[in-house]
Amino acid sequence: MSDLSTNYMGLNLRNPLIISSSGLTEKIDDIKEFEARGAGAVVIKSIFEEEIIAKTQKNINQMNASGFIYPETMEYFDYDSMEDPVSDYLQFLRKVKEETSIPIIASINCVTAEGWIDFAKRIEDTGIDALELNVFPLPSDPNRTAEQNDKVYFDIAEKVTSVVKIPVAMKVGYYHSALSNFLVKLSKTPIKGLVLFNRFYNPDFDINTLEFKPNSVFSSPNEISTSLRWVAILSGKLESDIAASTGVHDGIGMVKQLLAGANAVQACSTFYRNGNEQVTFMLKQLDEWMKENGYNTINDFRGKMSIDETYNPSAYERVQFMKYFHDL
Ligand SMILES: Cc1cc2nc3c(=O)[nH]c(=O)nc-3n(C[C@H](O)[C@H](O)[C@H](O)COP(=O)(O)O)c2cc1C
Repeated sequence: MSDLSTNYMGLNLRNPLIISSSGLTEKIDDIKEFEARGAGAVVIKSIFEEEIIAKTQKNINQMNASGFIYPETMEYFDYDSMEDPVSDYLQFLRKVKEETSIPIIASINCVTAEGWIDFAKRIEDTGIDALELNVFPLPSDPNRTAEQNDKVYFDIAEKVTSVVKIPVAMKVGYYHSALSNFLVKLSKTPIKGLVLFNRFYNPDFDINTLEFKPNSVFSSPNEISTSLRWVAILSGKLESDIAASTGVHDGIGMVKQLLAGANAVQACSTFYRNGNEQVTFMLKQLDEWMKENGYNTINDFRGKMSIDETYNPSAYERVQFMKYFHDL
């Protein structure tokens, strides 16, 4: 087998395939199975900022009522002894670390930089290898400027990295008015990795019943193109590592993202669709492709199709179908 190892945020991964945060990564047996099938790392199902704040607030209120604690002492809370999703999450992280040996990344889903930051330290204390922050305040408020929206990300990056030493990644979306500028700036903060991109829940509704329903929950392979474009454009410009995400369904998708310059690749929908054994299949495809093309290591080909190295950089800048409009 070729040497598939890669470095992501200072973590040594035996290969670039990371199992994304989802319902597939909230049970110890599933995580162990992903490890056994060869996964390079696993991102645990996210805990939500709201869950952390709700629990913390409930305890503060209770304790304030009895008159012996103030909010500023919140950081000394013994979260571990709380009966709730928060302490369950910490215990789960400890258990996963005890029973696996690949890098394990915890995940917090957050929209503000207030009220939960010190919880990141509790996560670090479980012995977890890294922390991923799934950040997305939807820019839906017409009274908020781009700067105000972007500031949330910078505040979170600064505050979280000031309380933990483990590598921190941010998983972001692409709804930003100056995407490249924003991501380059974010990569200059102490965060070590950017996950490009998250795939959001998108609403849809039935035109007869007027009931809401989720748009397709799982991605399809053709959704790879958005992250592929931006990974290729940004990989030579970011000061952080990149984990490419969304639409990677097979080994070919992995190869594409690595050629575009990603340090690692995250995947999720493909395991829902094809089962966990898809991990082994994807790694086999990557290995076979490397052998066929004479590459011994990931670094031998990583970034070869990035905008800085390809023979045709304009392919990534082109957004209109001019040629096709004329021909069709
Ligand atoms: C059922 C389901 C649950 C998910 N839960 C989370 C989550 O808790 N935290 C998170 O950061 N992403 C979550 N995601 C998003 C995935 O991690 C991933 O970013 C997204 O599905 C795009 O990757 P894919 O195209 O490989 O599926 C979830 C996705 C699915 C389908």
